[in-house]
Amino acid sequence: MLSVITAIKDIKQCIKTLKKTQRTIGFVPTMGALHEGHLSLVRQARKENDKVVVSIFVNPLQFGKNEDLKQYPRTLDNDCKLLSHEGVDVVFHPDASEMYQDGFCTSVILERLEDKLCGKLRPGHFRGVAVIVLKLFNLIKPDIAYFGQKDFQQTVVIKRMVSDLHIDVTVKILPTIRDEDGLALSSRNAYLSETEKKDALCLFNALRKAQSLVNTGVENTEEIVQEMEKIITSCQSATIDYISIVNPETLEAEQKVHSGNVVTLAIRIGKTRLIDNIILFFIMAVLFM
Ligand code: PAJ
Repeated sequence: MLSVITAIKDIKQCIKTLKKTQRTIGFVPTMGALHEGHLSLVRQARKENDKVVVSIFVNPLQFGKNEDLKQYPRTLDNDCKLLSHEGVDVVFHPDASEMYQDGFCTSVILERLEDKLCGKLRPGHFRGVAVIVLKLFNLIKPDIAYFGQKDFQQTVVIKRMVSDLHIDVTVKILPTIRDEDGLALSSRNAYLSETEKKDALCLFNALRKAQSLVNTGVENTEEIVQEMEKIITSCQSATIDYISIVNPETLEAEQKVHSGNVVTLAIRIGKTRLIDNIILFFIMAVLFM
C-alpha cells in the first residue's frame, strides 16, 4: 500500500521505523508530472531495495525569477496511481513552506561546477538542486538514490556533493529514456505543440551527428559543434543556449574528443528550453584475419 506523507515529522518517523527493521531504502527524487523516464528509475529502485521512497516536490529554490515555477505541471493524483502500480511504498510530498521554514538561509555551493553549461544561464539553479537533494537525503536516509543521465550536469553536481561531504548514499545514474523518435522524455515536453515536438527532434539528431563524426575519426570538438549547430539552426523554432563537449567530471570543455566525453546541449524550441546529452565513445576497430 502506497502511503503519501506530507509532514517532515511524519517522514522522519516513517524512516525511523524502516531503519529499525534494517530495510534497505531506494530513493527517487522527482518534481512529479511523472513519465517513463521517472518510472525507469523507480523500477530499478524497486528491483534493488526492500523499500522504495519517491519524493514529489516542485522545488522553488531551483527556479529562476522568470522561469516556469508556477506553470510547472502538477499531476499528483496520476503520479500516485503510477507509483502505486510500480509497488512504491512511500511518496513524500511536502509543500514549500514545510521544506523551507521561516528563516531558512543555508546553501550548498559547488565551485567550478555550478556556473558552467546550464548554470551559466540559470544562476542559482544548481545550488537549489544541491540544497533540496541534501535535505531529502537527510530526511530519507536512502541506501541508494537514483538519477537520470538526462540531467547530466545535475548528476555531476550530486555525485560531487556526495563525495565532498561524505554522504552515506550510493548514487546510481540510469540511461535517458526517449520516445520512439529519439526525443528525451521530459515533464517540460508538455509545453510543446505538435509542430514543436517534431522540431525538438533536432536535439537528438545533432547528438547523433556528433557520435557519427567521432565514428569517422573526427576528433576536433570545434568541428563537431559546428556541424551540430548547422542541424539546430536549420530548424526554424530552435535557438541555441549552448552546445559543448565536456569532461564528465570537471565539465571543462574539451578541444579534442576523448572516449567518455559528454556532448551536451540546451536548446529553446519556441519558448520551451530543452536539454539533452550523450556519452561519446570510440568504436574499436576489430580486424578479422
Ligand atoms: P525531475 O525533472 O522530475 O527528474 C527527476 C529524475 O528523473 C531526475 O533524476 C531526472 O534526471 C530523471 N529523468 C527525467 N527525465 C528522464 C528521462 N527521459 N530518462 C531518464 N531519467 C529521467 O531532476 C529533478 O526533477 C529535480 O532537479 C530534483 C533532482 C528532483 C531536485 O529537485
